Amino acid sequence: MTEIQTRARTAEGLLPASGSTGHEWWRTAVIYQVYPRSFADSNGDGVGDLPGITTHLPALQELGVDAVWLSPFMTSPQRDAGYDVADYCDVDPLFGTLDDFDRMLEAAHALGLRVIVDLVPNHTSSDHRWFQEALASAEGSEARSHYWFRDGKGENGELPPNNWESVFGGPAWTRTTNAAGTPGQWYLHLFDSSQPDLNWESPWVWEQFRGILRFWLDRGVDGFRIDVAHGMVKAKGLPDYTPEQRGGSLSGASVTLEPDISDEEPGSPMWAQEGGHAIFRDWHKVLAEYDGDRALCGEAWVSPPSKLARYVRSDEMQQTFNFTYLETPWNPDALRDVIAESLAAFNGVGAPSTWVLSNHDVIRHPTRFGLMDGSPQGHGIGPKTPYRPNKALGLQRARAATTVMLALPGSAYLYQGEELGLPEVIDLPDSARQDPTWFRTGGERYGRDGCRVPIPWTASGPSYGFSDSGKSWLPQPSEWATMARDVESDEPDSTLSLYKLLLAEREERSLGGGTLEWLEGYGDDVVAFRNGDVTVLANLGRASVPLPAGEVVLSSEQLDGDELPTDTAVWFSD
Ligand code: GLC
Ligand code: CA
Repeated sequence: MTEIQTRARTAEGLLPASGSTGHEWWRTAVIYQVYPRSFADSNGDGVGDLPGITTHLPALQELGVDAVWLSPFMTSPQRDAGYDVADYCDVDPLFGTLDDFDRMLEAAHALGLRVIVDLVPNHTSSDHRWFQEALASAEGSEARSHYWFRDGKGENGELPPNNWESVFGGPAWTRTTNAAGTPGQWYLHLFDSSQPDLNWESPWVWEQFRGILRFWLDRGVDGFRIDVAHGMVKAKGLPDYTPEQRGGSLSGASVTLEPDISDEEPGSPMWAQEGGHAIFRDWHKVLAEYDGDRALCGEAWVSPPSKLARYVRSDEMQQTFNFTYLETPWNPDALRDVIAESLAAFNGVGAPSTWVLSNHDVIRHPTRFGLMDGSPQGHGIGPKTPYRPNKALGLQRARAATTVMLALPGSAYLYQGEELGLPEVIDLPDSARQDPTWFRTGGERYGRDGCRVPIPWTASGPSYGFSDSGKSWLPQPSEWATMARDVESDEPDSTLSLYKLLLAEREERSLGGGTLEWLEGYGDDVVAFRNGDVTVLANLGRASVPLPAGEVVLSSEQLDGDELPTDTAVWFSD
């Protein structure tokens, strides 16, 4: 038995024994993203919370994941759903208390689940005392140097210091007002105006974040997901920037997602700066002060994979999200290319590749794959969007895509609700929307609320089991009744049953630690590879293909006869 397969009872519970180099848990883990506000509500206010997560952890163990990543639950005015932190070392009352966090962590560890928390180091909330102190301090003061305060351009400083745009729309600068009521300096915010960017040229900022990492490591967390990891360092002098193609597609594919976040064309002064890597080297050392395997996973919208892999060199972060994979359209050549390119790039630096199809910022993948080719679908989808996804086709492709993903070597990320096959919720009323993108673009971009709707646990009962009070911070659609966990648990062909089978077989056959070998001879439309004793075939073409001989381990759709239908994937064993 390899070390990773050994399960030892530790004081913390049933966790795989710590690995030696090469066998760390995060190299092969399937990590489930919990979006706390939409997972489970314990106190009836319509917003999910930490005690709600604790109660439902057994369902995640039963699903078969290795770890959970929690989106932010720290003190925050919730202007960007918690990605605007006002105190990094406390829990927002909306989600509970630090004691609730400790109980959740202990319960997770007892179930053998690792826990990663979200760290938001690019910006704070404008409510953070550091920013409030900066506002109250004089121009040029030490307190102001923790952020990016600059004088405006123009005769009276009435123009922003440069032409940068906020990812959420509008200018990336907001002008302050002096105590005397006169207009003051401007501050930089790559996101909402309530999210001022920290100045990572300040050693003081570095010191604060070492302390924040240690605060959570001392409590026993297994790692951190690093928000906007590619944005923390800005080009010297904050030069103007005019991207060639605003709102364009990163990959040249028909699907565009978060185009501004991923819009790091060469020369972009706000994304993927070389100087950022020194921060991750520093944090790598902080994690190394602690026993066991801890991991940093960077949210870096950087492509191609060869550039992304620089974030996970051996002395930097352990993982980084593979958004190039997420953005790959349903096309056999594109899929083969991104898999091959990712494995080559990450292997080249000794890091595992990661794989991801959905998260809280993008259109859920059953909806994405159901949008016909050529749909300009970036920035969310809503009632007035002039096209609708083909739901059945989208779900079928999503199931096939996940069947491919969970056979790949490396670590995979799942987003809560995808195991139920949940689609993006398109018909949210305008009055319910909360994403700052919606407000900052005057309703022009729908934003991300559609993937954040509270998830269904039960077919009947108040808010489909999300909250006993029946409240839900975003309204749930009636189709949740047919996609609830209790319904799908009982159906062998449900998406939930498929995910459980995929995860069990992946673990059983150690696919996460395996090696991929491409197979030829199945035609251009079939993505075909081997990992360990499993042969994976996915038909992305428009016609069925003959099924080879062999024992079917699982398939994304029921197979009738000896054909592999379109938009279907299958695992064979020898
Ligand atoms: C990241 C988060 C996103 C958030 C943004 C600003 O992209 O995933 O949800 O809005 O950073 O913090
Ligand atoms: Ca609650």
